Amino acid sequence: MPVTWADWAATEADSIRAAGQWRQLRSLEGRGPRFELEDGRSVVAFASNDYLGLSQHPAVCAAARAAVERWGAGTGSSRLVVGDRPVHSELENSLADWRGVEAVLVFATGYQANLAVLTTFGAGARIVSDELNHASIIDGARLARAEVVVYRHGDADHADQLVRSAPGRALLVSDTVFSMDGDVAPVAELSNLCARRGAMLVLDDAHAVFDVDPVDPQVACIRVGTLSKALGSQGGYVAGSRPFVDLVVNRGRSFVFTTGLAPSSAAAAKAAVDICRSAEGGRLRRTLRGHVDAIRERHPSPIVPVVMGDEASALAASTKLLGAGLLVPAIRPPTVPAGTSRLRVSLSAAHSGDEVTRLAKALADLP
Ligand SMILES: Cc1ncc(COP(=O)(O)O)c(C=O)c1O
Repeated sequence: MPVTWADWAATEADSIRAAGQWRQLRSLEGRGPRFELEDGRSVVAFASNDYLGLSQHPAVCAAARAAVERWGAGTGSSRLVVGDRPVHSELENSLADWRGVEAVLVFATGYQANLAVLTTFGAGARIVSDELNHASIIDGARLARAEVVVYRHGDADHADQLVRSAPGRALLVSDTVFSMDGDVAPVAELSNLCARRGAMLVLDDAHAVFDVDPVDPQVACIRVGTLSKALGSQGGYVAGSRPFVDLVVNRGRSFVFTTGLAPSSAAAAKAAVDICRSAEGGRLRRTLRGHVDAIRERHPSPIVPVVMGDEASALAASTKLLGAGLLVPAIRPPTVPAGTSRLRVSLSAAHSGDEVTRLAKALADLP
């Protein structure tokens, strides 16, 4: 008698539960980072990627509302058919100017931006990838059906060996800031090795809110970014030379075969870029820097991991913090390697100094 699909699903779910890795949605009411839980408790979340608090900024929200009034709620089509609106190219030009590149292409998510870059440039190449790269890079490399080789985390010498021994074109890909550890890639070394070996460098800047090392302008480099984190909106982008970006428009299946970014998201992101480039953006980054230093001095990003070890310890710590009104999620395998379950603290300029002090005290009191 074959197993039914229902039995199969129940067995799979049981094995995830037995490993302490079961996940559930939690609906939060509020505008963040302060929320009300379903049971009515008030919490401050140290969990989002809204690093500058721009998802709640009045100018960003007003831009989204105005875009809905002008263009409606959705584009109704892929951009190459009838889904392209003036706000897309306004945002792309503004991002290109900000990032100092020739061209930018925006996507409905950052995840899709990585898929598009890796499938467009990775096909037929060797993809050399940091072992802690984000899931969207791993999935993009798989989808490219390329030869994928993985180097030890942050180890530019190991990456160099793998690039050097490539039988043909090599593409080196790394997060600039790693999403679960909050550490920074050795960008200058990766850039140098790509310059020496003629490899393409793809950097995923999704979490890069503070400055990172520049890349040698001689290197064939593509930057991937998201509109959904520091820019407080929704979407992603690919930034690079005009020929590279035009190739993505033609070959990137996760661009071609999907509905264009909602005009409201594009308009919100454009307003957020304007803020990031203004004096206010500088103030927000300084506030964020101060919050990070209060939790871990000179840590290079707003993502501060507190590694606990096994799943149960991380869950217990997260539950204890929640009891004190502080929502800090426990991150467990498969998101992080086994034995490194952790609290992932993420800070935002929208937190108050008092909230950050409360968190610092509660972390210090953990067993
Ligand atoms: C490093 C990295 N790249 C890409 C993404 C995907 O971005 P988005 O949320 O816009 O799809 C994420 C999101 O978590 C990320 O952490």
